[in-house]
Amino acid sequence: MEKIKLFDKCFRPYIPYERLSEAIDRVAAQINADFKDADDVPVLLCILNGSVMFTSELMKRLEFPLELVSMKLTSYSGTVSTGDVHRVLGPTADLRGRRVIVVEDIVDTGNTIVALRDYMKEVGARGMKICTMLLKPDIYKKDVQLDYVGLEIPPAFIVGFGLDYNGIGRNSKDIYVLDESAE
Ligand code: IMP
Repeated sequence: MEKIKLFDKCFRPYIPYERLSEAIDRVAAQINADFKDADDVPVLLCILNGSVMFTSELMKRLEFPLELVSMKLTSYSGTVSTGDVHRVLGPTADLRGRRVIVVEDIVDTGNTIVALRDYMKEVGARGMKICTMLLKPDIYKKDVQLDYVGLEIPPAFIVGFGLDYNGIGRNSKDIYVLDESAE
């Protein structure tokens, strides 16, 4: 893996796809254990755009009937969280009375997760579990329980595997970290 340049910034290789894939196997096994005997059809809620790659990898491994629903939220501008979470699309189905498994790419400040919890209450979802590919535990200080976590990482800015820098970099299957020494 080599360094990549996205707009004005340099990124160096950080987490190879193989490690992500192993983490997804583990998380999927946990979700299967919790939902395999479900008598309802749980919703797998893909939070666009960042979770697209993770959701597709995860859902291949889930072994119970589920309904895929999408919703788009935004909070980031460049490499900084603005703290304001906006719902800009969806959800693409009614969540009232449904058990929802939220699929997030990364939990950073947790503002998105808090906004989602409030939204689920507002629309009357029956339950919510949070599944995130990545977590920045040094930054996340909110009280919403994270039920399934792929990997924990230090508080650095990353791209790839669905995550972007100003809209680009999402299509890399490996994860890269901002290379501050190259600025
Ligand atoms: P939070 O609301 O601060 O927890 O951040 C949630 C969203 O910000 C994530 O779903 C990502 O889309 C974005 N985000 C957080 N950290 C990063 C990062 O390191 N790189 C790219 N996007 C990020």
